[in-house]
Amino acid sequence: MIREATPDDLPAITALYGREVLTGTATFELEPPSLAEMTDRFEAVRARGLPWFVAEIDGAFAGYAYASPFRPRPAYRYGVEGSIYVEETARGHGVGRALLAALIDRARALGLRHIIGAISDSATSQASIGLHERLGFSRVGRYHQVGWKFDRWLDVQLMQLDLDPTGVPPKAPGIDLTGGLA
Ligand SMILES: CC(C)(COP(=O)(O)OP(=O)(O)OC[C@H]1O[C@@H](n2cnc3c(N)ncnc32)[C@H](O)[C@@H]1OP(=O)(O)O)[C@@H](O)C(=O)NCCC(=O)NCCS
Repeated sequence: MIREATPDDLPAITALYGREVLTGTATFELEPPSLAEMTDRFEAVRARGLPWFVAEIDGAFAGYAYASPFRPRPAYRYGVEGSIYVEETARGHGVGRALLAALIDRARALGLRHIIGAISDSATSQASIGLHERLGFSRVGRYHQVGWKFDRWLDVQLMQLDLDPTGVPPKAPGIDLTGGLA
């Protein structure tokens, strides 16, 4: 089941993300953020009207996903970047797909125009790249050796989903980016 995240989910979210910071290459953070920091990030996302979802399996927390502004300058106000994290024990059962599909639906409903996935490319990123391709994202570029983590360089594979590839002018106002990003 996919639902809106609430502040009560933040301890589980912080724990899952912290494990990924310490053991994985999906994020380029090196120190796990505190619960207070994750609370600030959650509130910043929600303050912009962007989605933060939680997945549950039989009532148990199984993962989360959220959309954050793609870039801070206002012309970028129609794009978001997606972040998705699934509990290791729940992977391979469609949770990531359900979370990303929910983000796509919400972004479309908000009148946004594209979703970006910036995926660190390493031996363990095939699941993430596969997930994004499965939901229609295209590979649009690649940064070479821009991350240094676990004593090795990491590339970043950029992926993009266009929600209206015709390029007609947007009808919605986009994300309010005044004041910059937190
Ligand atoms: C990437 C991640 C979110 C995928 O979540 P998941 O719940 O395991 O993925 P799903 O079971 O929903 O799989 C959806 C699709 O992704 C692809 N996929 C999933 N695991 C895969 C793997 N190990 N290898 C290749 N493709 C894979 C498949 O196309 C799959 O579709 P299919 O089942 O119809 O073949 C999860 O592995 C994860 O949290 N990884 C660590 C954090 C991370 O990398 N996050 C993404 C960066 S923001």
